[in-house]
Amino acid sequence: MPKLSVNVDHVATLREARKSIEPDPVAVAVMVELAGADGITIHLRQDRRHIKDRDLRILREVVKTSLSLEMAATSEMLEKALEVKPDKVTLVPEREGELTTEGGLNIQDNFDNLSSIIPQLQINGILVSLFVNPEIDSIKASAKLKTDFIEINTTKYTEAKNLGEKIEELEKIERMVELAYRLNLGINAGHGLNYKNVVDIAKIKHIDEFSIGHSIVARAVIVGFERAVKEMLELVKINA
Ligand code: PXP
Repeated sequence: MPKLSVNVDHVATLREARKSIEPDPVAVAVMVELAGADGITIHLRQDRRHIKDRDLRILREVVKTSLSLEMAATSEMLEKALEVKPDKVTLVPEREGELTTEGGLNIQDNFDNLSSIIPQLQINGILVSLFVNPEIDSIKASAKLKTDFIEINTTKYTEAKNLGEKIEELEKIERMVELAYRLNLGINAGHGLNYKNVVDIAKIKHIDEFSIGHSIVARAVIVGFERAVKEMLELVKINA
C-alpha cells in the first residue's frame, strides 16, 4: 500500500511572508500525523527561504512517523543531514531563485559527487532517494549508485496540456516504475500532484510513497489539515 508523506514547506512559506513565528510547520506536522499521514517532508533550501534549521531540528524531535529531508547534494547540506539524521534524504537539484524544484537530477554529470555523498548518508542509517525524471538512463544510473529509492518527477504528467500528452506521460511513468522495480529500487513519486491528477498515478503498482505538498496545504487553508490529509490518503491508497 503506498504511503503519503506530506510536504509542509508552504506552511513555512506563509510564516516567512511576514517573517513571523506563525503558522508553525511543527504544529502542522503533528496535525498531519494525527490525520494519518505516513510521513513529513521538508526541503531545507540553501537560501533558507521557507524551512529553517530550527524547523528541521525540532521536527526531528517531534515527528513520530518518518521525516524526509529534501536537500541539494552539497557538503554543507550533507553535514546538516549527518547532524540531524532524518529518516530519509532526497537529493534534489537546486537553482537559486527557482520557484520550486525544476527537474530531476542530472545523474550523469553529478555521478562522482553523488557516489561520494550517498554512502556517507547510508552508513549513518539514513535512507537515500534521488529525485529523477522518468528516463531510462537516470533510473539505470540511480541503480548503479546503489541508492535506496528514486523519486520519480511527475511534473510533466501534471502539466500535460491535453489528454494525449497526459496518457503518454502516465505510460512513461508506468514503464519507469516497472524498470526501477526490476532494478530493486524503492520507488517514490511526486511534484505537482493534486486531488485530481493523483488518481491515475495511484493506480500504478509498486510505488512505495507519494510526496505531496502544495495541493494539500492549499486545500487545508479551506477545509483544515485533518480533512485535507484524509482526503488525499483515500486517493493514494485507492488500490488498498
Ligand atoms: N518532491 C520534490 C523532490 C519536491 O522538490 C517537491 C516540492 O518541494 C515535492 C515533491 C512536492 O511537490 P508539490 O509541492 O508540488 O506537491
